[in-house]
Amino acid sequence: MRWTGIIERYREYLPVNDKTPVVTLYEGNTPLIPIKQLSKITGLQVFIKYEGLNPTGSFKDRGMTMAISKAKEKGAAMVMCASTGNTSASAAAYAAAAEMKCFVLIPDGNIAMGKLAQAMVHKAKVIAIKGNFDDAFHLVKGISADYPVELVNSLNPFRIEGQKTAAFEICDFLGDAPEFHAIPVGNAGNITAYWKGYKEYKSAGKSQALPKMLGFQAAGAAPIVHDRIIEHPETVATAIRIGNPASWKAAVQARDDSGGLIDAVSDQEILEAYKILAGAGIFVEPASAAPIAGILKLNTQGYFKNHAAQRMVCTVTGHGLKDPKTAMQDLAQPVAVPADRQTILKMIGL
Ligand code: F0G
Repeated sequence: MRWTGIIERYREYLPVNDKTPVVTLYEGNTPLIPIKQLSKITGLQVFIKYEGLNPTGSFKDRGMTMAISKAKEKGAAMVMCASTGNTSASAAAYAAAAEMKCFVLIPDGNIAMGKLAQAMVHKAKVIAIKGNFDDAFHLVKGISADYPVELVNSLNPFRIEGQKTAAFEICDFLGDAPEFHAIPVGNAGNITAYWKGYKEYKSAGKSQALPKMLGFQAAGAAPIVHDRIIEHPETVATAIRIGNPASWKAAVQARDDSGGLIDAVSDQEILEAYKILAGAGIFVEPASAAPIAGILKLNTQGYFKNHAAQRMVCTVTGHGLKDPKTAMQDLAQPVAVPADRQTILKMIGL
């Protein structure tokens, strides 16, 4: 069957009707890839859900196809969001596809270069504020409440509806839900969406089990872990540099209802996990390495000791190409040499 995006595939589980104009870039249907390096370390069957392979390179596209389609259905001409980068890239692309205007607020100096390029190339109006994501989010909530502009952050319930389809795909692929699901937590929309998806699929009789949800925040931006707002969040994982998440309560509920946990991982642990994934052929942005760092941390604490061979799915949320600066940070640039066979053979030791 030809893949034409998550709305067509999972229409019966989504709040759309025959009159909803479907704005899609054929998002979704991302691969679930077994990672033997991680299975070997943990004793679990570890898979990654490679969301970096969505049209704009992140999981946001699943939510954005819904948010923009519903905005279009309503007759909206303008959409707006605050973003650490990926939401703005996705909103800009889907708004372009829908021929709508898009305004984005970003924290000045704290979004990865690829994401900024995306928002700009799709002709969103990009406004960098001297503040962090939480300040930007506060502003867009106020403006969208007072003016005819649709908010497309994950506070918009259609975003969560679209994003829950990743859980459906995982169950369809594995034949059931996995025992564990690990995921980065920033504004906390995605953990909320997955948990909703897993529950709905079970209620519909499409799966039998529910996973334990394991959420991971960066240590310098871990409000849920510490149960308090973090005024000045800091982390190398700029995508999840958030101190006051919108879906805080729903994330705590996903954690508690599933019997899981939300924990913190340091920037160093995140970068080590990032390198392990790169070594397995998978290029992600730093925030996406947080769940890998998290399961490695839990593994050393003995958390999985009675769960040998059980299935673990880690959502890796964004593509590594989004953030080339972090990727190249401690790597030596290649040195140019003469275009000469002998020189090349000497360099590669042949
Ligand atoms: N991973 C990446 C790559 C992200 O961009 C985000 C969020 C998350 C994880 C966390 O997901 O917010 O649903 O808990 N990025 C948002 C943005 C905040 O503006 O692009 P969450």
